[in-house]
Amino acid sequence: MNTSRIKKDFPILKREVNGKKLVYLDNAATSQKPLSVVEKISDFYLTNNANIHRGLHTLSEEASEMYDEARENIADFFGAAKSDEIIFTSGTTESANLIAFGWGEKNLKPHDEILVLLSEHHSNFVPWQEIAKRKNAKLIVENIQPDYSYNFTEMYKKITDNTKLVVLSHASNVLGNILEIKTIINKCQKFNPNLRFFVDGAQAAPHLEVNLQSLGCDFYAISGHKMLGPTGVGILYIKKEIQNEVDPIKFGGGMIKEVYLDETTLKNSCEKYEGGTPNISGVIGMSEAINYLREIGMENIRKHEVELLKYFFEKAQDHEDMTIYGSMSPLERTGLVSFNIKKIHPHDLAAVLANEGVAVRSGHHCAMPLHKHLQIPGSVRASFYLYNDESDIDALFTAIDKARKILL
Ligand code: ALA
Repeated sequence: MNTSRIKKDFPILKREVNGKKLVYLDNAATSQKPLSVVEKISDFYLTNNANIHRGLHTLSEEASEMYDEARENIADFFGAAKSDEIIFTSGTTESANLIAFGWGEKNLKPHDEILVLLSEHHSNFVPWQEIAKRKNAKLIVENIQPDYSYNFTEMYKKITDNTKLVVLSHASNVLGNILEIKTIINKCQKFNPNLRFFVDGAQAAPHLEVNLQSLGCDFYAISGHKMLGPTGVGILYIKKEIQNEVDPIKFGGGMIKEVYLDETTLKNSCEKYEGGTPNISGVIGMSEAINYLREIGMENIRKHEVELLKYFFEKAQDHEDMTIYGSMSPLERTGLVSFNIKKIHPHDLAAVLANEGVAVRSGHHCAMPLHKHLQIPGSVRASFYLYNDESDIDALFTAIDKARKILL
């Protein structure tokens, strides 16, 4: 990977903060955007802007075509069988809510069970907790082991005829651990063939090649802004065969077939979930982000991040006061590392790093159950992407040294 060439495509990376060169290591929160994506969005507003699927005029036809092509492009990139399986939402949070309330409301009964992992992000935990409460169903939380892995053999034993849904993150936003989704699904199905699977791919899809058909899940959620796209674009996969199990959770224009005074019929397509004017420019910008990633190659991005992880872990060996959470094998995790430095609060460390131009996230990363389990108030998370290189990791460690001098 030619990171110095790639960096040039991201104008923001040239800026300084606090008089220091910006070192952006908060990609798990949101990635930066290449110029091509920003230009695509601005070109759309400057030359094509119109509402979609509602007008016969040229601008509306052009905008509709661009939006529909974006759906095709994104479906193709993620290996969906049909573009009709791709629903645009505002992000992974809305996607999880759509399934929790659009599927859960319709399919869950009292005493049904949902299986979820302890390390889930709140957006993949709270919606299930809430629908379980409303339907008098049970949320069963699988605990994490001391080595930060899950004992799936134990989890499979908890699957009964009452289990209706298994909720998994393809990769954790704190630990980075990559789950073997296909294997887990296959094994779960041996215990109950009628299970449904919701996979939060927000932290995996930006970093790994994802083929939805091959994973075999029913629902898969992606946040576009974590993979070079604009904020406000979520990609939700719902397998075509089970779309009749999921009701929309918002109702309005664009999704209907016919409306009468006493009844409304909905389109039998992905559009039934996209009531109202969608985020047209965002979706078109997202498609451009996908073009950028396709050009670089997801395999290359993965290899690059594994190299960065190796480099990080090598350097970390000289820092005995550093505790790293998650597997120490780069092949088992995505390009992020959550850690703490002994006797320094994560927010204090992050503040000193920020002053040195190094952007990281600190706190519980919207994963309170995991941090409580680890008995820590929070952690500092450095997360890499395709434009980061070893010099960014050097800058991080230099800033950590400085923090020790200031704070200890
Ligand atoms: N979900 C994002 C993160 O983990 C915001 O930082």
